[in-house]
Amino acid sequence: MSIRVPENILEIKPYVPGKPIEELERELGIAQSIKLASNENPLGASPMALTALRNAIGNLHRYPDGSGHAFIRDLADHLECPPGAIVMGNGSDDIIALLANTLLRPGERAVMPQPSFLMYEIAVRAVGAEPVFVPLQSLAIDLDGMRRAVDQKTRLVFLCNPNNPTGTVISGDDFDRFLAALPLDVVVVVDEAYIEFVRDASCLQSKAYWGGGRSIVTLRTFSKLYGLAGLRVGYGVMPEELAGYLNRIRQPFNVNSLAQVAARAALQDHAFVERTLHVVHDGLTFLFGALTDMGIRYFPTQSNFFLIDVACDAEAVFQAMLRLGVIVRSMKGYGYPDYIRVNVGTPEENQRFIEALKEVLGR
Ligand SMILES: Cc1ncc(COP(=O)(O)O)c(C=O)c1O
Repeated sequence: MSIRVPENILEIKPYVPGKPIEELERELGIAQSIKLASNENPLGASPMALTALRNAIGNLHRYPDGSGHAFIRDLADHLECPPGAIVMGNGSDDIIALLANTLLRPGERAVMPQPSFLMYEIAVRAVGAEPVFVPLQSLAIDLDGMRRAVDQKTRLVFLCNPNNPTGTVISGDDFDRFLAALPLDVVVVVDEAYIEFVRDASCLQSKAYWGGGRSIVTLRTFSKLYGLAGLRVGYGVMPEELAGYLNRIRQPFNVNSLAQVAARAALQDHAFVERTLHVVHDGLTFLFGALTDMGIRYFPTQSNFFLIDVACDAEAVFQAMLRLGVIVRSMKGYGYPDYIRVNVGTPEENQRFIEALKEVLGR
């Protein structure tokens, strides 16, 4: 075949998602595997969302509300922001792509931490613009380095708070200094996919900057805290002018009707949110305790996942854990060949993970 593909597309390394349970079980002929590789909600989906979904199923022959009127109204109430500041997305991935499509052209640049969420790079390369990587310092985003990397060609800066895969956060004070030194025409994206899990009071909350005259975009998702990863629903909050530009190129029905219904119900499911936070925070305490007892180094986190230094080939540990039916993430491709990333599961899953790790590492 002689397909002529632009160089920028050829340069993209495909995103490798966490291995699905079904795929592992099919490949190895095993059952009852557990997945702690995609930072999903261990409790499943919000029960209120599930009830709302069952009630909405009769309307599937209708197109969704392309403006997401009720969904965006509910979100605006929940977030205390104007509805016009919200852009809904087929997952927050969709908003990342919309931002790149709206704001970047070939020859322009987007500055991003490395390692961080891989979709920033993919979205930037997809439009032929140039990703500029700023290495983390001690697993945390280096805001001074990011500021220095901004030049006249920079249109966008991506920050991930807490950062995936390291779980570190940016402090509000550091962000203030960063913003003060940043040219006014650079759009700052703060990806808050995991912000609800944060307990560090000094952590940046980008919400504080909404309506403040700077071009700040907050990204949030229903995939983690609310357990709706499979439905694909997320959103961005940004200056209304910018929201208008993104909406010009947004697919008219990018968030399907079930996703809108479920997300609205999930917003009201305070009991589920509370239970999720308990399970995650108690799970972290258990896992950290067990790893300490095993003499294994791990890194503190403000999220529902964290890094573990297995002090040997992470890829081999990942493969050996798979054979025991436990899916984690090797960090080799992220530049940490000795680290794995694991997310908190149910108490039973956490126990099973620890037992599998003991077996694999021979402790
Ligand atoms: C930092 C970060 N941002 C965004 C996303 C994408 O979330 P969504 O499922 O809303 O597309 C993820 C998913 O893993 C993530 O880790």
